[in-house]
Amino acid sequence: MTTEEEIITRMKPGCICKGIKLRRIIEAIEDGATSYEEIAKVTGIGGGSCNSKRCRQKIAALLKKSALV
Ligand code: FES
Repeated sequence: MTTEEEIITRMKPGCICKGIKLRRIIEAIEDGATSYEEIAKVTGIGGGSCNSKRCRQKIAALLKKSALV
């Protein structure tokens, strides 16, 4: 991913219900979080009106991608 792509990705919404950017979630993974629960604890995501349906899918994809790198 180029730097420009990375910047745009990080600006995208991570948890829409809580208004938390994807950047915060990526940082949590980079800091060692390895599960949705750990990321939720650190970032405050989840528990919104969608019952975590939207952000849980994003997190799963990010964790899978980070495991492959
Ligand atoms: S998008 Fe995260 S709880 Fe709804």
